[in-house]
Amino acid sequence: MKKFFIQTFGCQMNVYDGQRIANMLESYNLTQTDNVAEADLILLNTCAVRAKATDKVYSALGRIRKVKKESALLGIVGCVARESGSDAFRRIPELNFVLGPQSYHKLPEILENPDTRLFNIDLGGLEKFDSLPAMTKTPNVAYIPVQEGCNHCCTYCIVPYTRGRELSRPFNDIIKDSINAVKTGAIEICFLGQNVNGYNYTDENGKKYRLSDVIKEVAKIQEVSRIRFTSSYPTEMTNDLINMFATEQKLLPFLNMPIQSGSPRILKKMNRPDDLDAYLEIVNKLKQARADIQISSDFIVGFPDETDEDFEQTLDIAKKVKYINSYSFKYSPRPHTAAAIMPNQISEQIKSVRLQRLDFQLTENQRDFNLSCVGKEMRCLFESEDKTGKHLIYRTPYMQQCIVDKTDTISQLLKVKITDANKSCLHGEIIKDK
Ligand code: SAH
Ligand code: F3S
Repeated sequence: MKKFFIQTFGCQMNVYDGQRIANMLESYNLTQTDNVAEADLILLNTCAVRAKATDKVYSALGRIRKVKKESALLGIVGCVARESGSDAFRRIPELNFVLGPQSYHKLPEILENPDTRLFNIDLGGLEKFDSLPAMTKTPNVAYIPVQEGCNHCCTYCIVPYTRGRELSRPFNDIIKDSINAVKTGAIEICFLGQNVNGYNYTDENGKKYRLSDVIKEVAKIQEVSRIRFTSSYPTEMTNDLINMFATEQKLLPFLNMPIQSGSPRILKKMNRPDDLDAYLEIVNKLKQARADIQISSDFIVGFPDETDEDFEQTLDIAKKVKYINSYSFKYSPRPHTAAAIMPNQISEQIKSVRLQRLDFQLTENQRDFNLSCVGKEMRCLFESEDKTGKHLIYRTPYMQQCIVDKTDTISQLLKVKITDANKSCLHGEIIKDK
């Protein structure tokens, strides 16, 4: 039997794409291996969001071409395929295929014609969802895209170029995928989209559906225990969706709603919503809907023309909103974006200092929140065993890691009493199952 090797880089949408690709290849009777040297088909499922992410892909390709079997087919799928286009073949002549994030369902063509080169970086929209075989097994957490692409065009971001314009999937397809996910093993459903709360679908009878409708319907599926969604655009956080946090107990009290910067001047240059009061008002409404809600953000430091003063405003908002579980990045100029050619690019050195200071604040927030959880009871979802084999790692409703002593049988969902915490994780005692 032929074997395939797949390595996934980047966001949860890529993790999802990787699962669909593996499932598709298995339906062609290939089996997965984690040893690249014995694989007959090797694919890298790639991320292009920052220059470092793209560099990682090319250095992995450089390593792989030295150890792979002579006859193995080698290729890339995902955002680097869109970013590099046919230039990828020039950089790595051994490549057999280059497929964009919306054309990876064409991968079996290379199995049928291994002597040709397969190149397709078209924006095929939602076509792939109809052509892929249904998933036959699903991990505890099922990622289910509700939309693909983004219309927001933040000036730093390559995603609208690599993933195309926004397209919302048919409501019924999402419900069908959710039912299939729980039938094949899922307990938690995480709805995905580059602009997930922009979900907007009109069916053939003219009926309109928003993300709140999807959540309501999927919450009715008995076997679904937890629901979340990512990533949200602040100004698309409409009242119907905010209300879900009050009415749907299965919806976790945790929301990723990136602000990126705390400076209205920089937000304007980023083409992001720049009214901080309006943003804080949304945070307030969320807290009113669900008092225990916590919010996470992504941040970019060192955007072109960012002054010390602008950066201080980013620190201020991080402190004020008390974001937990957040990500911070140095601005990275990307091809096909407006910010890459803006004047007053910031030096690496200044970016590094700012990143360090922001990370210090974000870690402080996380530690404070983790410590505030000690003594509380939380319902947690099993993730994995730890490296020592003595403990089990669970995820809290806030996506914190919670470590408990290993038990003879592993319960997928557990009530845990938090006994200890530090900046990176919680420790807990099992109370009872479910
Ligand atoms: N809404 C999208 C965001 C995609 S990019 C989604 O979740 O699918 C993820 C994060 O990477 C962004 O929120 C931003 O903080 C960061 N990012 C995007 N482009 C960047 C760039 N050019 N340099 C540094 N960070 C960037
Ligand atoms: Fe990128 Fe902004 Fe959309 S970060 S994915 S353009 S909301």
